[in-house]
Amino acid sequence: MHFFNYKNGELYAEDVPVRDIVARFGSPVYIYSASTLVRHFRAYGEAFKGMPHIVCYALKANSNSALLRLFAKHEAGADVVSGGELFRALKAGISAKKIVYAGVGKTEEEIRYALKSRILMFNAESENELREIDRIARDMGLKAPIALRINPDIDPQTHPYISTGLKKHKFGIPIDDAIDHYKLASGLKNISVIGIHTHIGSQLTKISPFVDSLTRVLFLIDELAKIRIQISHLDIGGGLGINYLEEKPPEPKDLAKKILPLLKGRALTLVMEPGRSVVGNAGILVTKTLYLKEGEEKNFVIVDAGMNDLMRPSLYNAYHHIQPVTKSRRDTMIADIVGPICESGDFLAKDREIPKVKQGEYLAVMSAGAYGFSMSSNYNSRPRAAEVMVNGANFALVRKRETYNDLVNGEIVPGFIR
Ligand code: LLP
Repeated sequence: MHFFNYKNGELYAEDVPVRDIVARFGSPVYIYSASTLVRHFRAYGEAFKGMPHIVCYALKANSNSALLRLFAKHEAGADVVSGGELFRALKAGISAKKIVYAGVGKTEEEIRYALKSRILMFNAESENELREIDRIARDMGLKAPIALRINPDIDPQTHPYISTGLKKHKFGIPIDDAIDHYKLASGLKNISVIGIHTHIGSQLTKISPFVDSLTRVLFLIDELAKIRIQISHLDIGGGLGINYLEEKPPEPKDLAKKILPLLKGRALTLVMEPGRSVVGNAGILVTKTLYLKEGEEKNFVIVDAGMNDLMRPSLYNAYHHIQPVTKSRRDTMIADIVGPICESGDFLAKDREIPKVKQGEYLAVMSAGAYGFSMSSNYNSRPRAAEVMVNGANFALVRKRETYNDLVNGEIVPGFIR
C-alpha cells in the first residue's frame, strides 16, 4: 500500500498533484511519500511488539537525510555498511546504540569511527576481520561488541544478484565453521560476543527461507550456550520483498506470525534490517518524454531519466511499472522506454505495453524508492536528479538537483597541465 493514486485522472503523491511538483522542480525527480514511509516503517514495530526488538533501517536502500530524520523520529535504528552511512545515520539523529555495521570489507578507518561512536555491534564477516577489530579496539582501549554474520546456506529463491545466503557467496561465515569462529572470537580480549546475524537475500516473496534460516540459527545459539557463549542479539537481516508487478510478498505481520512462536521463551533482542520493504513503494521517479522514435523493429519512448538515475532495470532486468502522470482514454502500444545514455543497456522498460504517450508528457516510474537514487551516478556527466518529499498537502525539496558545477567540484587540473 502506498499513497500514489489517481484523482480525476491526475496522479497524486498524497494530496499533491505530481504535475505541480514537476512544474516546480523539473524532471527527472524522485518523489517520496512521508506517510507511506512512516506506515511501512511502523509496520515492523507493530508486528514485533511482542518481544524486545530494534528495527535497523538499511540505509543502502535510500539514505536521504530527510528520510533518515523521519525514521529517527520514529525511534529507528540503522543498518550501515560504510563509514559514510554511519555518518549519515548519526547526523540524522539515529542513536548509536541502535546501529549495526555489516559488510565484508570494513577498513581500519571505518572500524575506528564505529568504535568511537559506540555502535550497538559490528556484524563481522570473517576471521581476519575479527582479528582486525580486536587489534583496533585494543589500540583504542575499548571492547568491541560483535555479532558473527552466519551464512546459513539457504536458497532465498530470488534474483541471483541479490541472493546472499548460499555457500558460494562472499558473505558471512559458513554455518559449519560458526562454532570455531565463535570460540575464536570469545577468546579475543577486546571483543565482546553478543550476537548472531544472517541476511540471506533481498526481494524475498516467501517466508519459508526466513524460517529455515532461523531454525538453523536457533540450533546454533543452543550449541553455543552449551559452551557458555551467550547470544543476546539475534539479527535476522532484511529482505522482505515488495510488489513490483504482481508478487504477493508477505508483510512484517506475516513474518512475525511465523517467527515469534519460534523465539518464545528466549531472552533475545531481535534486530531487523529492512530496506526495500520500508522505502520501495514509498517513492516514484518522474521523467519526461523527450522523443518518440519508431525503429524498424521497435518503438522507443525516449525519456529524460536514464540508467544513471535508476539502474535496476539495466542491472537486474528489474520490472518497474511505468504509467502516465495524466491518464486519458487512448490506445496502447508496445515500446522500449529508454534513457538518453549512450549504452544499449540504458532502458527503464523493454517491450512494454503502455498507453500511447505524447512527446513532452510525464511518466511515473513506480516502486522506485529503494535502490533508486542511492544507486544513481553521474555517468555521461548527468547531474543527479532532485528529490522531493510529500507530506499531506505539503511538499519540499529534500535534495537539490545537481548542477554542472557540482559535476566538476573536487576535480583538480594539476600544475603540469596548466
Ligand atoms: N541487511 C544486509 C546485510 C543487506 O545486505 C541488505 C541488502 C539489507 C539488510 C536490506 O535488504 P532489503 O530489506 O532491502 O531487501 N540493489 C539491489 C538490492 C541489494 C540488496 C543488498 N543488501 C536491488 O536494487 O534490488
